[in-house]
Amino acid sequence: MKKLVAEVENLKAYYKVKGRILKAVDGVSLGLRDGEVLGIAGESGCGKSTLAMSLSGLFLPPLKYYGGKIKLKDIEISKMDRKLLRKNVLGKKISFIPQSAMNALNPTLKIRNFVIDVLKEHEPELSEEEIIDRVEERFDSLSLSKRVINSYPFELSGGMKQRVITVISTLMNPEILLADEPTSALDVSSQHQIIKLIKTLLERRIVKSVVFITHELPLLRHIADRIAIMYAGQIVERGTTSQIIFSPLHPYTKMLMSSIITPEKGMKGKELPVVSGSPPNLYEIVAGCRFAERCPYVTEECKINEIKFHKIGDREVRCLHPLTERNGINAAK
Ligand SMILES: Nc1ncnc2c1ncn2[C@@H]1O[C@H](COP(=O)(O)OP(=O)(O)OP(=O)(O)O)[C@@H](O)[C@H]1O
Ligand SMILES: [Mg+2]
Repeated sequence: MKKLVAEVENLKAYYKVKGRILKAVDGVSLGLRDGEVLGIAGESGCGKSTLAMSLSGLFLPPLKYYGGKIKLKDIEISKMDRKLLRKNVLGKKISFIPQSAMNALNPTLKIRNFVIDVLKEHEPELSEEEIIDRVEERFDSLSLSKRVINSYPFELSGGMKQRVITVISTLMNPEILLADEPTSALDVSSQHQIIKLIKTLLERRIVKSVVFITHELPLLRHIADRIAIMYAGQIVERGTTSQIIFSPLHPYTKMLMSSIITPEKGMKGKELPVVSGSPPNLYEIVAGCRFAERCPYVTEECKINEIKFHKIGDREVRCLHPLTERNGINAAK
């Protein structure tokens, strides 16, 4: 098994708003291995972006760190001073591309000025010429036109802006790239180009590991090695991409797959009926399984205690009634 680049243990990050606590990331544990893409999928509001932000170690108000560890080899970043984090970790060890980053580009700045601003912050000793040389070289090596560097954001397509941001975010060869919904709102061919770019960054060892966040689980088939499914602030199932997509154990995972218009080929078992309802209010988490209200297989037992991860063969799921028993997946309990 490949070595771990990062390890997250029982991470808790909550929003504190007007004295109330919203548990957006509530006890998340993950391992990130060298050379892999870890996909994270879940419905809107389940905490994906909060998790991405937390993984970068940046807990910006009203988000607050409440516990757990984020370890990069021997560095623990969850409690690191913000200035040190910005100086030594962000951009260099972890790069975070926030959701909708491409829409946040300053329309009055050419890409070249944006890059200069970004790199100067991390490496103030570099001259503007050195920065542009470095960027041009990287653009060239990744087959992106150098002309883009002299463009304004509005002159570029959404797909191109997202690729530019991805390349700029990885200029300092960070070990980990956190990409939050890098393909949402893009057409299929632009999505494909982003996926290809991220794979190239990994192959060339420009980055060592990628966390790829999306609300479109099926898309992860094209890029992720492993997938974690998030529901109401927690990971509810983890597995390899084919395990998660073709033989989900958690009823919620299956619901996420079934909610697409064309079912993926090879999905086993009967389709769940469309599950109605919405995720629980994260201000008021009740005892028991967080999916209970929407689950077609719920029993009274599900509503008593918090559901811990169960091992099923080499897989892990937070469910008392995983789908193995129903859909004939041959996994030993
Ligand atoms: N700044 C904030 N203050 C208070 N609550 C917030 C804040 N940002 C997010 N939340 C809440 O935290 C929860 C998780 O939000 P988050 O944005 O992480 O979800 P998400 O899975 O990324 O959703 P989406 O798919 O829509 O991007 C939601 O209930 C959301 O309303
Ligand atoms: Mg989000």
